[in-house]
Amino acid sequence: MTLRLTLRRLALGLAVLLLGGLLFAWSGLFSVRASSGHWPVTGWFLHWVMQNSVRTDALPVAAPEDLSSPALLARGAGHYATGCAPCHGAPGQPQDPVVRQSLPAPPPLVDEPGDWTPAERFRIVQHGVRYSGMPAWVAPERADEVWAMVAFLQAMPDMPPEEYRRLAYGPQAGGEAQAAGAAGLRGLARDGMADCARCHGPDGRGRDNEAFPVLSGQSETYLAQALTAFAQGRRHSGIMQPPAARTEAAALREIAAHYARQPAFPVPQAADPGLLAEGERIAREGIPAEGVPACLSCHGAAALARNPAYPRLHGQHASYLENQLALWREGQRGGGPFNELMHTIAERLAPDQAKAAAAWFATRREAPEQ
Ligand code: HEC
Ligand code: HEC
Ligand code: HEC
Repeated sequence: MTLRLTLRRLALGLAVLLLGGLLFAWSGLFSVRASSGHWPVTGWFLHWVMQNSVRTDALPVAAPEDLSSPALLARGAGHYATGCAPCHGAPGQPQDPVVRQSLPAPPPLVDEPGDWTPAERFRIVQHGVRYSGMPAWVAPERADEVWAMVAFLQAMPDMPPEEYRRLAYGPQAGGEAQAAGAAGLRGLARDGMADCARCHGPDGRGRDNEAFPVLSGQSETYLAQALTAFAQGRRHSGIMQPPAARTEAAALREIAAHYARQPAFPVPQAADPGLLAEGERIAREGIPAEGVPACLSCHGAAALARNPAYPRLHGQHASYLENQLALWREGQRGGGPFNELMHTIAERLAPDQAKAAAAWFATRREAPEQ
């Protein structure tokens, strides 16, 4: 007897298969136990699919030329210690046996860094991996931060544990809680402060060149507004949102007050005289043809004294200031209640004008008079 394949029979066959599949899933006979592991072929297939997807996703990504600057490594390591090491382990910190029991288990990135190009690592860290527990970056649009993490991942397998500890926890690793205690902080604020001091230092001066913005001497109101914006997800940063979100609001306010009390610390910075002259002109006069007001009308000595929501820019790292202006230009930076003002201004500044203004403010030791 021969069966003729008709459309009707084909549809019927498919419906029976679908129903069978549903019945099997409903019966509970398919095991979701992580402890049983995958069949080797399933494990291979899933990883193959992931590799292909990452490779194609990475095609349009161009890696920055230099991924070895100490600032990038420090930023990457600081976040890795709390955001990634609990799953992947770190130099001198073996992987936790508990996470080894998940399926798929996170690979130990020190011993098995994987054969990825920087662009592929960028995509894995930026978007995470579906069905695997590998999370996406908290602020995927912050490519600058994802590159800092990629820079660190490239360097990590050869990194001695002491160097990792210094990069991730700061030069006085372990001493921050005491430093915070000495500064008169109590309980919760002291614990939160130890986390902040890893990157910003107990005195808010930062470390590793321009890795972290200077907080010392900044106005308390501005610091508190920035921290609330990070904690509530209104200012996007995969590195700063987590520490702000895991610290109690009351502790954040105390820590903001602590950093505001620290003596201001202008960092000596040099720049090309032509660039500085252009920057000074923009700061003092603005760019009337483009509708850009003078920066000093809000960031000069008189305005800073009048309105504590205006941040001091003098003595801040030029690269940090320039990057914040770029984030506003691209519509990616939030902040306190007046941050829309800066969005409008930054949109009207060309990248080289932003660079010039940032460079000039960075070289000022005192709040400039208008
Ligand atoms: C909750 C646990 C978890 C956390 C937290 C986590 N990962 Fe992963 N990660 C995984 C898992 C699981 C995989 C395996 C994904 C796969 O192969 O499908 C993975 C894969 C990776 C890979 C690809 C490795 C390879 O060779 O396949 C990189 C790179 C990576 N993670 C980096 C990071 C970074 C950087 C962070 C912190 C920002 C991080 N991970 C945080 C679980 C985690
Ligand atoms: C892993 C390193 C790291 C930790 C931990 C950390 N920060 Fe930050 N912080 C950064 C980086 C990087 C930036 C710059 C963010 C950006 O580019 O958007 C920043 C920015 C800030 C800003 C904004 C400065 C400005 O001028 O707008 C404040 C305020 C701040 N941090 C306070 C804190 C406090 C308080 C804590 C502890 C609760 C903390 N940070 C913990 C790395 C860190
Ligand atoms: C009308 C007032 C005003 C003017 C004019 C102004 N700013 Fe601002 N600026 C602000 C405010 C308010 C903030 C804080 C935004 C927030 O809440 O995060 C700020 C923040 C900044 C920051 C971020 C600082 C940090 O620590 O993250 C930079 C950089 C900056 N301004 C640069 C400039 C430059 C350059 C100019 C001139 C071209 C300028 N601003 C003109 C009001 C102003």
